[in-house]
Amino acid sequence: MNPIKVGLLGIGTVGRGTFDVLKRNQEEIRRRAGRGIEIAMVADLDVERARQIVGSQCEVVADGNLVVDNPDIDIVIELIGGYGIARQLVMKAIANGKHVVTANKALLATHGTEIFKAAQEKGVIVAFEAAVAGGIPIIKALREGLTANRIQWIAGIINGTTNFILSEMRDKGLDFGTVLKEAQRLGYAEADPTFDIKGVDAAHKATIMSAIAFGIPVQFDKAYVEGIDALEAIDIGYAEQLGYRIKLLGITRRTDRGIELRVHPTLIPAKRLLANVEGAMNAVLVQGDAVGATLYYGKGAGAEPTASAVIADLVDITRLASADPEHRVPYLAFQPDAMADTPILPMSEITTSYYLRLKVADQIGVLADLTRILADGGISIDAMLQKEPAEGETQADIILLTHQTQEKQIDAAIARMEALSSVSGKVTRIRLEELS
Ligand code: HSE
Repeated sequence: MNPIKVGLLGIGTVGRGTFDVLKRNQEEIRRRAGRGIEIAMVADLDVERARQIVGSQCEVVADGNLVVDNPDIDIVIELIGGYGIARQLVMKAIANGKHVVTANKALLATHGTEIFKAAQEKGVIVAFEAAVAGGIPIIKALREGLTANRIQWIAGIINGTTNFILSEMRDKGLDFGTVLKEAQRLGYAEADPTFDIKGVDAAHKATIMSAIAFGIPVQFDKAYVEGIDALEAIDIGYAEQLGYRIKLLGITRRTDRGIELRVHPTLIPAKRLLANVEGAMNAVLVQGDAVGATLYYGKGAGAEPTASAVIADLVDITRLASADPEHRVPYLAFQPDAMADTPILPMSEITTSYYLRLKVADQIGVLADLTRILADGGISIDAMLQKEPAEGETQADIILLTHQTQEKQIDAAIARMEALSSVSGKVTRIRLEELS
């Protein structure tokens, strides 16, 4: 049988990795897919560079439209990123009846509903394993391996840049700004790291996972997104003294009132496997009602790890392309006519535990005031740490860990604490998950 023809949009790091791995493992891949998979055409603005990578074996063009309009191309791989030209080309490829593989989490988290609808109407596959956690086959696990389960929650370290920065901050006791510069120097962080450090990249991935886990539309606009840029080294140190590590988690959880979808720095018990995921690695913990907890760990970025996911999608499509669309795995794991309209909860309605750090005057009654405020709000204290004032200072740090409560309760308690004359400045609040 003739090889299936693939057109590649964008041959940057991942595109190059995809090209290299497909070439290196072509015989094994052919044996698995049932036919060869050949990148027949590449579009990249830097045509010269692209030609150097692919040699004379395939056509190189600057205009992606030539790829998506080429009747000989069966599958389009979109590795451009963003939601400008990438969205136009993906929509056009679908309209032209081509299957699409994309690593573009931003595109799917914001325009997924439109893309999947168009794909369904055309009977084509849109595959996106590489969009979440790079080389970890988490989409496959959620859509297929765990399909018997009612998923209860997912908590993931799904951004390598921020995990690298947090690991370095903890290991070396350095502040965020210093570590970020070092991460940029070493190539772990982009020159413009905004999407990573502000939690946006993780929120795109958490949004996609929430849709697949709970059978709801992708709704990035409803996600709560908080990055690590305001995190202070002192809190990483106190968390450690209390037996916790701070990770940027993407969390999505089913509750009786709706679905939680949030990304923020989170204290997790140091003994959990997830707490020990260090450096740029990713890991996703999934709690299903039948299977219990399962953990997926690996490289969440990089040329060949991401290529591994892209090529897995190519193989899936090659195997399934001739199958009746009705019998394929649905894009978001649930049949399109069986999607739920369960609301995503506003942040004020979510339930979690909290780490609070306050700078207080070292005087009688301060602790009583703080505990009274928490008791009034129905918030139970789990642990407490008070540090002596530093030499020559009159103010002490108090750290309180609470049991679970609603975000709106802690908001109200924090406002009352900040109004006390004995409390200086803002209360630092970091959410805490036991993940048990
Ligand atoms: N920039 C991401 C990370 C990888 O640092 O994990 C691509 O989503």
